[in-house]
Amino acid sequence: MTTSRITGYYNLSIAERRAKLTEAAGITREAVDAFVEDGGLSVEAADHMIENVVGTFDLPLGIALNFLINGKEVLVPFAIEEPSVVAGASFMAKLSRASGGFHATATDPIMIGQIQIIQLADLNAARLKLFEHKDELLAEATLADPVLKKFGGGARDIEVRVIDDSPIGPFLVLHLLYDVRDAMGANAVNTACEKLAPLIESITGGKVHLRILSNLADKRLARARVTVPVSELTIGFEQYKGETVRDGIIAAWAFAACDPYRAATHNKGIMNGVDAVVIATGNDWRAVEAGAHAYAARTGRYSSLSTWGRDASGNLVGTLEMPMAVGIIGGATRVHPAAQAAIKLMGVTSARELAEIVVSVGLAQNMAALRALATEGIQRGHMSLHARQVAIAAGAAGELIEKIAARMVAEKIVRIDRAEELLKELRNN
Ligand code: MEV
Repeated sequence: MTTSRITGYYNLSIAERRAKLTEAAGITREAVDAFVEDGGLSVEAADHMIENVVGTFDLPLGIALNFLINGKEVLVPFAIEEPSVVAGASFMAKLSRASGGFHATATDPIMIGQIQIIQLADLNAARLKLFEHKDELLAEATLADPVLKKFGGGARDIEVRVIDDSPIGPFLVLHLLYDVRDAMGANAVNTACEKLAPLIESITGGKVHLRILSNLADKRLARARVTVPVSELTIGFEQYKGETVRDGIIAAWAFAACDPYRAATHNKGIMNGVDAVVIATGNDWRAVEAGAHAYAARTGRYSSLSTWGRDASGNLVGTLEMPMAVGIIGGATRVHPAAQAAIKLMGVTSARELAEIVVSVGLAQNMAALRALATEGIQRGHMSLHARQVAIAAGAAGELIEKIAARMVAEKIVRIDRAEELLKELRNN
């Protein structure tokens, strides 16, 4: 990748954008062809992915610019229907460059498989017997996926929890901690959990009930940090002092930190960016969503996934930590040509690197939302793109889309009935 900064990208035609993309990413035109109409998922391939296929369903695919993550330029593909998300992330990524962009890390890719053990006479004794057989259990679980084993993955450890407040009486849960390397890992973990069941029954004398992955992937975390000088916070916002924007963002975060009603929306803003990349790379966004919200509630009170504060020099500092169960091999990532193109475009070679990009994007998206909310509100920025969608819905095409959208924004009336009136008026002229 040569650069993630492409000036005037927004104003180019789609063909020009594709050309610039291949040039900036240093990849061939064929590599991004999967983003071109008809180049994506074929109905034949889709038919092998799920049941009862009758077609495919498209989403817009946009490129978030300006991302510098761990010193590397990244052009980030977003699959999303919501206006302003790509622009918001790109703008925040631009402001973050003054202090080196995003710094991100990820833990080892350890997923948790859960095995529920019921009908036990003595839970404490059964629990300890499982630890006595730990090596045997890990060896058996690792055998479940010889391919992962070849790449250095496999079962790493066990935890055994006593659940003593259940409505059906107490039972045990064994957590199998499994290193899934570059996979998302659900299949490997589920297979390993199912494989362990007979051994666990013979060790404990109990009955194994559920055997399934946990989406609260709190052993597979991704973390991002960003520092933004106050001088950057006035860019495009000249009517506000940088300190005012910074303190406004911090006060907005404090609201989310203390109030679940606000935290849900705050985290939704983070997920706008996270999901867009997760979907573009063919990953399971429901799994990432479930993990994010469960992690946000881990203390017993649902709260913000991010933090915002100021450092000793007065710069704005943001952090985000969340579970990130994403892979670059297997599943839809392998089958979907556009997902393959997305991975290639970002130059990602491991699931860890992808997790680091996704968490950085989530932090950028959060900052974009808070910056707008803490100052002029989100509607002004939102409205110009929303107005284009309303104009299209009213039947506008070509240059009429922009004309009608601009009129509606100026009038502060962005409604389908007004778009229809304007369309009639402009056509008559
Ligand atoms: C809208 O999709 C996302 C926001 O509501 C996020 C937030 O409120 O922080 C703008």
